[in-house]
Amino acid sequence: MDRRYITTPIYYVNDRPHIGHCYTTLVADVAARAHRLMGDEVFFLTGTDEHAEKVAKAAADNGMSPMDWATRNADRFREAFDFMGFSHDDFVRTTEDRHKDKASAYIQRLMDSGEIALGDYSGWFDPSQEEYVPENVAAEHDFKSPVTGAPLEKRTEQNYFFKLSKHEDWLRQQIETDRIRVLPEQRKNEVLGRIKQGLNDVPVSRRVKEGDADWGITMPGDSDHRIYVWIEALCNYLTVVDTDERREFWPAEGHGTVPVTHFMAKDILWFHAVIWPAMLRALGERPPETVYAHAYFIAEGRKMSKSLGNFIEIDTLRAYAQRYSLDAVRWYLATQGPLGATDADFAYARFVEVYNADLANGIGNATSRVGNMVEKYFDGSLPKTCNGEFGLPGGKALGIALAAREAAGKPVDDPTRTFDFATETTAAVAKATEHIGACQLDEAVRCGIALVKRVDDFISYTAPFTLAKKLDEHEHGETALATILYSCAEALRIASLLLAPAMPGKMAELWRGWDCEHLHDPADAGSGFVAPLAELAAWGSPHGLKAGQTIRKGDALFMRADAKEAAPEA
Ligand code: MSP
Repeated sequence: MDRRYITTPIYYVNDRPHIGHCYTTLVADVAARAHRLMGDEVFFLTGTDEHAEKVAKAAADNGMSPMDWATRNADRFREAFDFMGFSHDDFVRTTEDRHKDKASAYIQRLMDSGEIALGDYSGWFDPSQEEYVPENVAAEHDFKSPVTGAPLEKRTEQNYFFKLSKHEDWLRQQIETDRIRVLPEQRKNEVLGRIKQGLNDVPVSRRVKEGDADWGITMPGDSDHRIYVWIEALCNYLTVVDTDERREFWPAEGHGTVPVTHFMAKDILWFHAVIWPAMLRALGERPPETVYAHAYFIAEGRKMSKSLGNFIEIDTLRAYAQRYSLDAVRWYLATQGPLGATDADFAYARFVEVYNADLANGIGNATSRVGNMVEKYFDGSLPKTCNGEFGLPGGKALGIALAAREAAGKPVDDPTRTFDFATETTAAVAKATEHIGACQLDEAVRCGIALVKRVDDFISYTAPFTLAKKLDEHEHGETALATILYSCAEALRIASLLLAPAMPGKMAELWRGWDCEHLHDPADAGSGFVAPLAELAAWGSPHGLKAGQTIRKGDALFMRADAKEAAPEA
């Protein structure tokens, strides 16, 4: 079994979570679930970044201590992530000792080895992002934050510096050769372009000023400085697994490799693709395998911002989930979100369109149609297939169905068309697996819907409902009908596996109705699946549907949505 470590950014707790935080965490959740489904042992981490100055400021503005404020918002993140059904294995808060102690030990190590040393620094600080902005970028943005538009502050301070510059060649080479995969490709080019302009050493501490809240981790051996929140925050990825039980997820050099994937949006790519790998190298640790930076969600065509007050809040997502189901929200985010390099819109009209096409009229309709027919024609018990006797559809069963269709006066438009679900499902699984490896999780789960569409086509083409009325007129008519329905049901079972990382709840509901519960134990701490995807999804595998198995019609997985209805509101 391969191990894999998947992370999200740890989020600031100055405010409550919104759709953006849920989106990245959903992407990571789909990746984690997909890898577990493939049989990997996954450690999936998310959490909160608490020592930022803006957290202390928000706390003061609200008359609370930084710690109480942080706890309140960290709890909101936890609740939001529980509501979204995320399967993280741990949730770290940077105010926890397990993080603080190790983060300072790493900084101490870097000071001991001379990778961090004292020096003078003067530059443009963006208080809204807690980071320094390079001179040229500051000038380009009229000395306002490139992210929030807040005025930049000129700051000069004596600081501890991390000697990033000495890792320049190594970083360029790692990224160029994809030893550190920076994805999507466009982001890789941007990062390489910026590295080629030259790397400056980066400040890693902040001098404590009078009146500062007692907030942050003190620089080891120098209580006049605190560790710059970004530097400390990045360490979370290692602090959490730097324990006896978990170290296997980030093995030291010479002890094997475990692919680490960091997910985030483009705003914080530089920290993850450049500063963090260099810090790891300086610590003698391996760099991450993949750094994936998606674009932004915008809302109804407009950038989300505090001043516009148009953040899609968790309560809005809850309202959507209440009307359409949580998995519908997950599906929309997973397939319509800004996974690539371009921003994506959260728009009600689009939501309804996608919901109806993929879910209500897609997997929902196909499963209830097949369930209905099995119930009607075979008393709800999956019929014995004619594998071997006639071959799979595309062979004789298809021929009989088409003959029945023609006999009913419905001409066959294209008699050369073939359906070979054994081959098609294998190809769909292979394609999905490839997409998962490339972090194209939207494409991966869409492979499930593509399969559903093929089942729909097959049903329209063979018209089993027509054949069912003419069974007596065709020798082997019943076997042909059985083969068609079996093929549809089995192809849908395989599609449901590919859809499960995005829609675990609804697919579990389907498995309950189709006697497939034994394939997946939701209470299991690991993947929960009895076998890896390649085995589970193999046509004719012992995990496949069997003759005699119950296929309950059940309620439709997704009710059709009415686009004329007003958008759900929190
Ligand atoms: N605390 C730092 C990260 C430290 S990681 C060691 C931070 N926190 S944040 O709360 O500002 O979160 C930024 C991240 O939230 C983005 O990188 C992205 O993952 C997510 N998003 C915030 N707004 C977003 C959108 N509008 N759209 C998509 N994702 C966005 O930066």
